[in-house]
Amino acid sequence: MALTIGVDVGGTKIAAGVVDEDGHIVENLLRPTPADSPDDVADTIAEAVRELAGRHDVEALGLGAAGFVDETRSIMRFAPNLAWREEPLQKKLAERTGLPVVVENDANAMAWGEYRFGAGRGESHVVCVTVGTGIGSGIVIQGALYRGRWGMGAEMGHMQVVPEGRLCGCGNLGCWEQYASGNALVHEARRLAAAEPERAGRMLELAGGSVSDLSGEHVTQAAREGDEAALSAFTSLADWLGQGLADVAAILDPGCFILGGGVSRAADLWVDQTRAAFLRALTAREHRPHPEIRVAELGAAAGLVGAADLARHP
Ligand code: BGC
Ligand code: NA
Ligand code: ZN
Repeated sequence: MALTIGVDVGGTKIAAGVVDEDGHIVENLLRPTPADSPDDVADTIAEAVRELAGRHDVEALGLGAAGFVDETRSIMRFAPNLAWREEPLQKKLAERTGLPVVVENDANAMAWGEYRFGAGRGESHVVCVTVGTGIGSGIVIQGALYRGRWGMGAEMGHMQVVPEGRLCGCGNLGCWEQYASGNALVHEARRLAAAEPERAGRMLELAGGSVSDLSGEHVTQAAREGDEAALSAFTSLADWLGQGLADVAAILDPGCFILGGGVSRAADLWVDQTRAAFLRALTAREHRPHPEIRVAELGAAAGLVGAADLARHP
């Protein structure tokens, strides 16, 4: 059976895996993402790929990476949260590995993985939204990944939802990912802990009393233990997400939404509220079928499984 390698390049880690035609991972590796230097990132990816390719007979390499990939799926033009600018990723990795390489946006790869092998199986119109450092998204329409004219479609995290709002890594103000991502969750939790410490007792305790040390893990654990401010931060995330998904439904009318990304590991804390916020905001809600809002099934592996499959059907 033909095997390919999929790699998911995130801000903190690089996940690489050998994947078969049914989307099963045969072997995988994790490496920390080197900070700042694009060449170090390419070297680290290539080392992981060569190690896997040494043990398995693989045909191609698919890469999912967090940024704007050009229409030939070779160049990472711009990454709002990483150091890539006009980075020739495809060329660098083909040279370093000797394999045919396809570069895809990380959330597009994840959407494809979930559509083929996960929560989107059997659907024809799927929108996948990843809630992590930023907000990523991928659109599958009638069984095909929608990339837009120049490869840069499905960048929903940069819809400007607040006029003159928070500064985004893309340079604009008020982008959705500044209000409904994992970073936004922590931002809101810190704001609440500073403004209303009496409602944030457990959260502050977990962070050693320091607002600036408060992390996503602290917010999640405190919310599970009933901390009021932590629960409010999740409600804020859910409200912003549900509202944004309703806007997306107004444009794309998908059969289902799939929510993934790091924050979806704590989906039980916010997905029901997101569904409620979505229905409050959905246009013509009494006169249309409601798309289901599902949680991703492939978890952290969705991106690499999708990228590996895209390398097989370029
Ligand atoms: C980037 C996207 C990426 C998403 C999730 C956004 O800031 O613009 O390209 O898919 O973050 O990583
Ligand atoms: Na995308
Ligand atoms: Zn932005």
